[in-house]
Amino acid sequence: MLARTDYLTKVYSLGHSLDVYERHVQGYQAARKVLLTMTREQVVEEAKKANIRGRGGAGFPMGIKWSFMRPHPTKPAYLVINADEGEPGTHKDRTLMELNPHSIVEGCIIGCYAIGANVAYIYVRDELHLSKERLWGAIREARAKGYLGKTPFGKNFPVEVYVHTGAGAYICGEETSLLNSLEGRRGEPRLKPPFPAQAGAFGCPTTVNNLETIATVPAAFMLGCENYSKLSALHHIGDGGVRLYGINGHVKKPCVVELACGPTINELIYDIGGGILGDKPLLCVIPGGSSTPLLRADEVVNAPDEKSPMHAWHGKNVMDVPLGVDTMRNVGTMLGTCCVTVMAEGTDPVLAMLNLMQFYHHESCGQCTPCREGSAWLDRTVQKLYDGNGTIEDIDLLADIANNIMGNTICAFGEGTAMPALGFLKKFKREFEEYATGARTKAQARLTVD
Ligand SMILES: Cc1cc2nc3c(=O)[nH]c(=O)nc-3n(C[C@H](O)[C@H](O)[C@H](O)COP(=O)(O)O)c2cc1C
Repeated sequence: MLARTDYLTKVYSLGHSLDVYERHVQGYQAARKVLLTMTREQVVEEAKKANIRGRGGAGFPMGIKWSFMRPHPTKPAYLVINADEGEPGTHKDRTLMELNPHSIVEGCIIGCYAIGANVAYIYVRDELHLSKERLWGAIREARAKGYLGKTPFGKNFPVEVYVHTGAGAYICGEETSLLNSLEGRRGEPRLKPPFPAQAGAFGCPTTVNNLETIATVPAAFMLGCENYSKLSALHHIGDGGVRLYGINGHVKKPCVVELACGPTINELIYDIGGGILGDKPLLCVIPGGSSTPLLRADEVVNAPDEKSPMHAWHGKNVMDVPLGVDTMRNVGTMLGTCCVTVMAEGTDPVLAMLNLMQFYHHESCGQCTPCREGSAWLDRTVQKLYDGNGTIEDIDLLADIANNIMGNTICAFGEGTAMPALGFLKKFKREFEEYATGARTKAQARLTVD
């Protein structure tokens, strides 16, 4: 049975006030220690030892990202926290904002100090009213106690944290669109380079961290970053600490749970999620929200080469591989937001793909032609097949469109659309062909479990 950890979640049932945070998890002790006893460089070096892989989707190591920030002779630096969380099936950051907002504020203080910023902006989508209220409440409490402001903990290093609301567009979760939106511009991605560390918010050096990434920081510094990293079953491959796992879809108990990094999908579904609805067999999962290629329940890891990083799992079912940034990449998918979307047998994969393509078509910002036109074509062509008007050639057309989006857009929205599309087409070829030949019709199609 998987053991739950409670470095982030201990205060959930106790309350979200400063008092609870200080009394029950030694809140703000890590920030106090960092500001009063460490140099900026020491903080960054220590942070690297935590092996915190960014929790926003790409899994980039947080400590290394902080180390890219260099003091600029004339420009200020900024810390920007990404709490847009628009990915379907992803709901972990919201839980943290509502139930443990002080971990975020404390993480911002340490993060600002590490990168030399005096201001942190937390970018939250506007409809998350409770999240905004709790964050502002925590900021006010921390300010009143002297943990924010001109001299936090008596240190001459001003830190202010602000909540900035976004209008609720999935593309504004992409870090450079977010920066445009923060500046009051249209939420469209920027060309990189320059990367945010060189020219981010208002043209100044900026670090963009996911909300869970920053909320993890106080626990790591309290425990000692190396100790924190070792909590993970994947510490040896540079994926450290604990993280929030989301389980959605056809499970009996959809939830967000904190675990040491490295549970398997089977453990999440059966130990934590209570098993599949109606005790049906598992059909497939999307490991990270909706933007990553899916894994079928009958897939087996093929890594006969002893030098392969996946050799340890050769011959095992893919659902028994630990969920980690690199392990998932090695089985042809991505960990993404680490919120697993579960589909039971009986789910119609063509309808599931249609559902996703409608989302991506609607959310494409339209800046790049392959994404704007491609997402529309994907949506229309799956719809055509689903309606019974498609042909076998349409299946090849879908793959062709998706392949033409991959690598041809300014931001990773394009891949986020194309990768799940290609996954569905490859792993459920038979079902797509059945729609094309009329052997399957939408009359029987289900996305729910009876
Ligand atoms: C279309 C799109 C949407 C994204 N949405 C989010 C989001 O809601 N939250 C988030 O933290 N990262 C999101 N990302 C990833 C960010 O661009 C960025 O990698 C992340 O905020 C960096 O934080 P991390 O290194 O702590 O993970 C998105 C990326 C893309 C391409």
